[in-house]
Amino acid sequence: MIDQDFILKSYNSKVESGSVKWSSPSNIALVKYWGKRKNQIPENPSISFTLSNCKTITEVTYTKKKSTEFSFEVFFEGEKNEAFKPKIQTFFERIESYVPFLRDYHFNIETSNTFPHSSGIASSASGMSALALCLMSIEEDLGVDYADDYFNRKASFLARLGSGSACRSIEGELVVWGKNKSTESSDLFGVRFDGDIHSNFKDYQDAILLVDKGEKQVSSTLGHKLMYGHPFAKERFLQAHDNLDKLKDILSSGDLKEFIKIVESEALTLHAMMMTSMPYFILMKPNTLEIINRIWKFREENNSNICFTLDAGANVHVLFPKAEESKVYDFIKSELVAYCQNGHYICDSVGNGAKRL
Ligand code: PMV
Repeated sequence: MIDQDFILKSYNSKVESGSVKWSSPSNIALVKYWGKRKNQIPENPSISFTLSNCKTITEVTYTKKKSTEFSFEVFFEGEKNEAFKPKIQTFFERIESYVPFLRDYHFNIETSNTFPHSSGIASSASGMSALALCLMSIEEDLGVDYADDYFNRKASFLARLGSGSACRSIEGELVVWGKNKSTESSDLFGVRFDGDIHSNFKDYQDAILLVDKGEKQVSSTLGHKLMYGHPFAKERFLQAHDNLDKLKDILSSGDLKEFIKIVESEALTLHAMMMTSMPYFILMKPNTLEIINRIWKFREENNSNICFTLDAGANVHVLFPKAEESKVYDFIKSELVAYCQNGHYICDSVGNGAKRL
């Protein structure tokens, strides 16, 4: 598929008003996306687990208007929110040619997250995917009838233009984004991983340890930019292809030890790219490293399959098979909670993607 396939060509312009509501989850990448070209095209393929509990719920009410300007209000957790407006304005500008009805309506966007505000968890993936899905449902309200596949693909395509990783939040349980030779995929949208998934990876658990709930010191937009001219960029992009290739076999064979190697190496490589860019920066905190070391020790001593991954921040995602749930949560409570800000962590697991409410 190409960009043009997502342009809405005709719709029923007589619809006066309506309302749509979606819940969309966050996702956690196993092979990381870091570095993009123009129009949010990724430099390398990535794959993620879709999460279940960390979600954004967004309701969009639309009303026909006369002016040709974009017109919208945002309410976050019940309160009018001006801070989100510029990001949504930019999003509307980017997607306008694909959803031409954007200028015909005033939009009331009411949004909330299931995870605590300012938890340091990026809400852009769940937030942008929820909004993209609402726009797709409005498109359907305007008389456009889509097959599921196209609906999801266009939702993911739009979400990508809001925030790259958001395109991996529409479906579950594993989603691939970015062209590669190992799986069915596209640079334009995320698709469900088409390979076999061993039962070891069903219902995989993710405990998100909140090490630092503050605002990110470096935005991912800037981080992606720093991959231009980065001395290790070329090798990194090739490595991501290679890791996805290996992960495909691992997901099918159920080899947890090999899974851990890829996932932890990807997390550390992501942060290594940040530490070796110019300007360089470090997003991990001392407690991030304490947690990692304790995870390694616990794994060794208990013959466990626990491992960690990181996104662009200090928080640690602790990944483990469902079968180890109780012993890992005992370990988290007895040893790792001490390194979390105010003792906070979130229990999540792999989920099935977004839902219309
Ligand atoms: O979606 P963005 O532009 O915020 O990028 C996020 C990238 C990482 O979370 C660091 C990795 C990933 O693949 O999700």
